[in-house]
Amino acid sequence: MFINFWYVASTAADLKDQAVKVKMLGHTFVLFRDSKGQAQCLSNVCTHRGGSLAGGKVRGDTVECPYHGWRFKGGGACVKIPSLGPVDGAEHGKIPARTKIDAYPVQEKYGLIFVFLGDLPEAERPPIMEIPEYGKDGWRATVQQPGVWNIDYKRSIENSIDPAHNEYVHDTHGFSGERDDYRVHELNMKESTWGIGFFNKMHSPPLPEARMRAASGRTENAFIEAGTGHHGPSAVWTHIHPSPHAHIHQYLYETPIDERHTQVYLVTLRNFLATEDDDKRIMERNLYVAKQDKLILEDIEPIETPRTNTHEVFMPADVPIARFREFCKDWENRGWRIDMDKVVAMRGKAVFAIPSPARRESKGWVIDPVPMRTTEAGIKAAAE
Ligand code: FES
Ligand SMILES: [Fe+2]
Repeated sequence: MFINFWYVASTAADLKDQAVKVKMLGHTFVLFRDSKGQAQCLSNVCTHRGGSLAGGKVRGDTVECPYHGWRFKGGGACVKIPSLGPVDGAEHGKIPARTKIDAYPVQEKYGLIFVFLGDLPEAERPPIMEIPEYGKDGWRATVQQPGVWNIDYKRSIENSIDPAHNEYVHDTHGFSGERDDYRVHELNMKESTWGIGFFNKMHSPPLPEARMRAASGRTENAFIEAGTGHHGPSAVWTHIHPSPHAHIHQYLYETPIDERHTQVYLVTLRNFLATEDDDKRIMERNLYVAKQDKLILEDIEPIETPRTNTHEVFMPADVPIARFREFCKDWENRGWRIDMDKVVAMRGKAVFAIPSPARRESKGWVIDPVPMRTTEAGIKAAAE
């Protein structure tokens, strides 16, 4: 799992006026809305005696620890320690700076709440995967949560950018291995700063659902254009064009809960059947397809994506996966990969925090930062 990327912590609709506990990257966080409705995200562990902030009340712009009532603002500062007496009372002691808690940048977009889990300053942060069609005329969006999958999220990202699985896993867009002339057609690769993608031709049956099929205008098997790619370690875009004018563009944001569980968020844009009446139909189709992937992915061994490629055999259709792994290696070399072996060894004995941007500006944090994997390149860069 990698720090220094944006992760979806919740749908916007699910964050109301109560504090919510969210587990991401093996750590717990508290989400709450301040008095202006602005979403805030803090590390969930109280710096007093480890209380779970998410179990407490939201009071004005603060969240109150349920154990002894310390209050923390969205920026992470502790502003009230009840055992010291009223804050404005003459006898009130000073609140030590070390009570502060990591606070993370938050953006509410596309019906989702994105949190930047890392310590990079704003100018250096990788961007959120954009949805260019969102809110544009002619496009209709649905946001859904296909639930928690018992997988290493990287398995799912690799699955999404794997052109050879569609024929076998999805009867919605392949022929279940029944065609002798099946092959993966040439991948037109495209590369960006934060990932690779490709477009290729895919031989597909018409859309199975009658109303969608009629709206797409295609009733025969045909070669269709499809493209997919990843953005960062845990987000994927997929563009499917069932016919030249009917487009389905999907944006999948995966949030690693820990190294073996993943929360999946899916935003789907479509330019046909683009009214609310058809949302349910589209979401049902998405879930049908997602379940087919989940079934395969939850059964893969080993659970965790291998750290080297030497125990698997790669084919030309696997090039996108090989490139994804190279990107991951690069982020690891930047020192962004959590050392889960160390975290697991210390589980129950120590708690860590994902370092927040404020750690670059001030010292005196009570909770240690999570251990990161050190690589040769990382050690060299740190020495320079
Ligand atoms: S543990 Fe949070 S106030 Fe004591
Ligand atoms: Fe799939």
